[in-house]
Amino acid sequence: MDNAQIKRLEEGFSHLAPRGEELVNRFYSKLFVEHPEVRSMFPDDMSDQKRKLLASLVFAVQGLRTPEKLQKPLKEMGARHADFGTLPEHYPIVRDTLVSVMSEMAGDAWNDQAQTDWTAALDLVSSIMLVGAHERETANASA
Ligand code: HEM
Repeated sequence: MDNAQIKRLEEGFSHLAPRGEELVNRFYSKLFVEHPEVRSMFPDDMSDQKRKLLASLVFAVQGLRTPEKLQKPLKEMGARHADFGTLPEHYPIVRDTLVSVMSEMAGDAWNDQAQTDWTAALDLVSSIMLVGAHERETANASA
């Protein structure tokens, strides 16, 4: 990601992060209404999960300037997701649902550029997680 893109993401997120609880509430509501097939992967009580998702988004945005520091934790998170049963095709669903909720919440502050930036940022996070998931599956297969 280039500097201008990171700046726009940081600036956009600085307005959304204080409304983080609303963001994750809306995200999971939308995810489970539009993709009920993923609901059973998650626990009944989603309070911990909501907190963790928000923390991971903050971590990822804060790490955009030092992407090498994102590698290890995001790969490990991707490996845990492989254990949860998360498949590669689920990642675009989560990305698009998050981007859509962010756009609804940002209102007039949202534009095509924000759409492109956030999609790219979440693709970056997903691609690192998927490397970790793949490594976990390869290790399991040869165990
Ligand atoms: C941008 C991509 C994603 C991020 C940042 C993210 C973040 C997180 C975090 C922080 C956790 C807490 C546990 C841990 O750290 O391993 C978690 C758990 C989980 N995530 Fe994700 N996730 C992403 C993508 C997905 C996708 C695509 C799915 C599949 C629909 C998914 C399903 C789950 C499930 C089922 C759990 C475990 C819930 C539990 O049993 O406690 N996640 N996620």
